[in-house]
Amino acid sequence: MDRLDKYLCDSGVGTRSQVKQILKAGRVTVDGETIRDSSRKIDPALQKIELDGVLLGGTGRIVLMLNKPAGYVTATEDARQPTVMELLPAHYRHFDLKPVGRLDKDTEGLLLFTNDGRLLHRLISPKKEVPKVYYARHAGCARDADVAAFAEGLILRDGTVCLPAKLEPLGEGESLITVCEGKYHQVRRMMASRNMTVLYLERRQEGEICLGDLPRGAVRELTESEIGSLERQT
Ligand code: URA
Repeated sequence: MDRLDKYLCDSGVGTRSQVKQILKAGRVTVDGETIRDSSRKIDPALQKIELDGVLLGGTGRIVLMLNKPAGYVTATEDARQPTVMELLPAHYRHFDLKPVGRLDKDTEGLLLFTNDGRLLHRLISPKKEVPKVYYARHAGCARDADVAAFAEGLILRDGTVCLPAKLEPLGEGESLITVCEGKYHQVRRMMASRNMTVLYLERRQEGEICLGDLPRGAVRELTESEIGSLERQT
């Protein structure tokens, strides 16, 4: 059994104080009954919890993938720059979707969104070590010594220690990089530490979820089996 307010926060409905207001306003029902008491104990596996008439959890959960183009910041709001939220079709706007982790403004490729707070936190937790695969075009050429240094765990120029990662040279100035953590500018900084400045970066895979042939700028919902694979991985 969970407290209703905790369940709503974990589901991405809002912060603790927002959830309190939402409950006060009578917008949440449990098995059809309006509940205003934040401390009410609920069983999300057995009970039907709705916000504004939309079912939460179970079939109310949404997981989307976007093929992010360059030029958008990964944020829910930004006063000056376009955000990835603007790329989501309007009918998803009221689901309170959040990006899973972040891609730099110039990075393209796979970006997941969900309204399931638990799944989101599990996916971005460094403890779960979900592998992410990036394609990079870069200055210089990746050599055996670079591959070995990635496998050992790089130490960045500022002393940051990275988990072991995989570097697969594809040819002159092109590589695939697999990392299990999401530090700030991680791949760019890892490559820079080996004197290979990244010129272009695209995320192609997260866990078993592949970007595939989704066109740049397009969005699609993950299938149940893709969501299952994320659940198993985290
Ligand atoms: N690593 C980076 O340097 N940038 C990204 O956007 C993602 C991973």
